[in-house]
Amino acid sequence: MFARQSLFQKNNLFIFLSAALMLLSFSCSQKKPVSVVWLDELGAEPAIEGWGESQANKSVDGNPLTIAGQSFERGLGTHAEGRYRIKLDGKAKSFHALVGVDDEIKKTQQGAERASVEFIVSATDKKNNKKIIWKSGVMKAGEPAREVNVELKGFVYLDLIVSDAGDGMPYDHADWCEAKIEYLGMKPEAVKPYVSKPYILTPPAPPEPRINGPKVFGVRPGSPFLFTIPATGERPMTFEAEGLPAGLKLDGSTGQITGVVDKPGTYLVKLIARNRLGTAERTLRLEVGDKICLTPPMGWNSWNCWGCSVTAENVRQSARAMVEKGLINYGWTYINIDDCWHGKRDPKTGEIRSNEKFPDMKALADYVHSLGLKIGLYTDCGPKTCAGYEGSEGHEEQDIMTYAKWGYDYVKIDWCYCEGKDPRVAYKKFGDAIKKAPRDIVFSICNWGRENPWEWGESVGGNLWRTTGDITDTWVSMSRIGFGQAGLSKYAGPGHWNDPDMLVVGKVGWGPDLRPTRLTPDEQYTHISLWCLLAAPLLIGCPIEQMDDFTLGLLTNVEVLEVDQDPLGRQADRVAEGENYQVWAKEMEDGSRAVGLFNLDPYDHMKIRVNFSDLGLGSGSYRVRDLWRQKDLGTFSKYFEAEVAPHGVVLIRIFP
Ligand code: GAL
Repeated sequence: MFARQSLFQKNNLFIFLSAALMLLSFSCSQKKPVSVVWLDELGAEPAIEGWGESQANKSVDGNPLTIAGQSFERGLGTHAEGRYRIKLDGKAKSFHALVGVDDEIKKTQQGAERASVEFIVSATDKKNNKKIIWKSGVMKAGEPAREVNVELKGFVYLDLIVSDAGDGMPYDHADWCEAKIEYLGMKPEAVKPYVSKPYILTPPAPPEPRINGPKVFGVRPGSPFLFTIPATGERPMTFEAEGLPAGLKLDGSTGQITGVVDKPGTYLVKLIARNRLGTAERTLRLEVGDKICLTPPMGWNSWNCWGCSVTAENVRQSARAMVEKGLINYGWTYINIDDCWHGKRDPKTGEIRSNEKFPDMKALADYVHSLGLKIGLYTDCGPKTCAGYEGSEGHEEQDIMTYAKWGYDYVKIDWCYCEGKDPRVAYKKFGDAIKKAPRDIVFSICNWGRENPWEWGESVGGNLWRTTGDITDTWVSMSRIGFGQAGLSKYAGPGHWNDPDMLVVGKVGWGPDLRPTRLTPDEQYTHISLWCLLAAPLLIGCPIEQMDDFTLGLLTNVEVLEVDQDPLGRQADRVAEGENYQVWAKEMEDGSRAVGLFNLDPYDHMKIRVNFSDLGLGSGSYRVRDLWRQKDLGTFSKYFEAEVAPHGVVLIRIFP
């Protein structure tokens, strides 16, 4: 009886306990059911992409998401190089998606052949360890979607990455379809890339006179000479020059040196600038010989702002503003008209004429010269320019002579409608004509790096050559071009420069409607720092009359510009790199090193170090100066380390 009762009681207890357990687990699962958030719900806006704009539930071109004929309702259409960061709390369960190249690129044969991407899923744990948890392998157009299914437990960040698979970005339209996260705790959140407010680092120019700009200048004997002494400081200011070669004269109130030098040689000219607060002096080395463009050209070009809508009035306004905003006082010189100025040729003589937007090319050149600036224009080695205007094919020498007659100082020659030609032959025709021209004309080769112009550009008379396709105002474009210059330093030097394309700061638009550059303030500091380290031609791509103070600060820092204009003419090399950072350095004429510490991470600040041994500097201590802030940071031995903002830079100079 006792035993039976006890058994009965035991049974009851068991039933009771099981019921309680079931209730408990039910109520627990009631509190924490698995939730799902779809990637498209987190939004397309925080995505970083290499081209176009990522879209929720659509391809990057705005079509239904489609991979190998299969359509998907949900997901994110993006483009390599792509990044998307999601914040988790360690309790997310899993990530699932079907990925592949979007069918939309199969519209063209090129697209079908060239698209290739790799999808990478990386995650970061609470201790900040990052690891790749899934990779698709290289995927090409037309391949069926591959499935990602990964556990997320313990991770606090999820990074969805689309790489270009190592063969460049064109046509890399990439889809994350049916992408979703299952989670228990906090709802996953998209993380926006870091963007700071614009901040100006360049200190204002002192009121006392200071002579800026290049320390060396080349001219050919017999060519018309124009050099405006670039000097900041309170006006009125007067100028003197001691040791000018015969044939040159200085206008003491404008600082413009003009004339013609016949005798080749090296002349050391002492430039002097005075105002009521003091006197500044600086030696200018004048090289009268067959080389020009001894420092990278600095100026403005109409393309990145006005595109084909450019008019003579736009050109005049930027020229005037170059003076009024004081950029001329820092060595900014050239005012260059890009595509879309050509008219029809004279039917009898074949001479090129301008179109109605440019009523008088010579008058425009005279106006720009009267401001103490120089002027440039654009043509194409084919029958037509890229925008379809009259090209120079068959008129190479005639056109150069016309430009010289009008008074132009710079010509950029494009490569549209030239496929199939040997660029060495095509460009040499212009180079030979420029040699014969009665004035100095800077020769800019623009064949987008086809057939390695750095190897033959100088031999055909080029002063600069584009190394890549066109830049646009995104981080991916700017950074790929800029950091992609590694290995080219040996081809740069006084008179011949690698050209990573024009600047995308200020307002851009490639047409009548302008907008502020999409580069963040830190990305713009990176852009200018990197271009200066690279001894790149600096061509401002925004209307100067509309330039804001932030942009003006970027372009008027004497210590930064000095890195670009250093007379030694070295281009920086990459001296160190890690997963998300790079260090670039170049030697300056005085033996110091200009060094850029670049943070390539879009989200996090980072400490970046440069070891002095990587710069060829021995043991000992060195003075380190912050160039943007124009401030000494102290003396350091062995290494220097600084915290760098996401996509930002610390630019320093290390003095032995
Ligand atoms: C491109 C060139 C651009 C711009 C444009 C004008 O080929 O790379 O810099 O000049 O043509 O149509």
